[in-house]
Amino acid sequence: MNQTGTEVQNIILIGFMGCGKSTIGRELKRVLGFALIDTDTEIETQAGCKITEIFSNLGETGFRDLEAKVLADLLEKNPASTVISTGGGAILREENREVLRKLGYVVWLRANPETIYQRTKKNRERPILQTENPRAVITELLEKRTPLYRECAHLVIDVAGLNRTEIAAGILESAHYYFSQQQS
Ligand code: S3P
Repeated sequence: MNQTGTEVQNIILIGFMGCGKSTIGRELKRVLGFALIDTDTEIETQAGCKITEIFSNLGETGFRDLEAKVLADLLEKNPASTVISTGGGAILREENREVLRKLGYVVWLRANPETIYQRTKKNRERPILQTENPRAVITELLEKRTPLYRECAHLVIDVAGLNRTEIAAGILESAHYYFSQQQS
């Protein structure tokens, strides 16, 4: 429920880097005609620079503070009929996990470490993966974060082997059921 007592039919996408949150966000926006908010884009807009620069200027903690602020502000704005695509570490802080669940139906897009490595290896815009051994970092972070994704999510989708249409269709069917139960 939002502050006006009506249901908030938002869909929130969480999951590790490279699991397709942005792509699926755009697909859901296209199919549903919802607004789309990407929290990383919001962070960049507020900071006036790219995520790589935020990490090098303020460190990861500075980035996480901005991320938490963007999420808290978003809840404050009380969005409706919106798809919200988040950064892979948005679930790290407990306060964020609470905000995400208050915002709407939380969907965890999940993939295994090798799939993530293959999908992210050419990208230079993810500071956390710019290391000598990104495979090891992915495995370690995934292990640490998995319980947090699980705690936060209403729905889990294993993305490997599914195309964007199939993933979006799965989300829509489950979200529709969830929202209909909320209303009854
Ligand atoms: C991060 C994921 C990134 C971005 C930042 C940190 C993470 O978003 O928020 O580089 O800690 O997993 P994507 O998951 O959209 O790549």
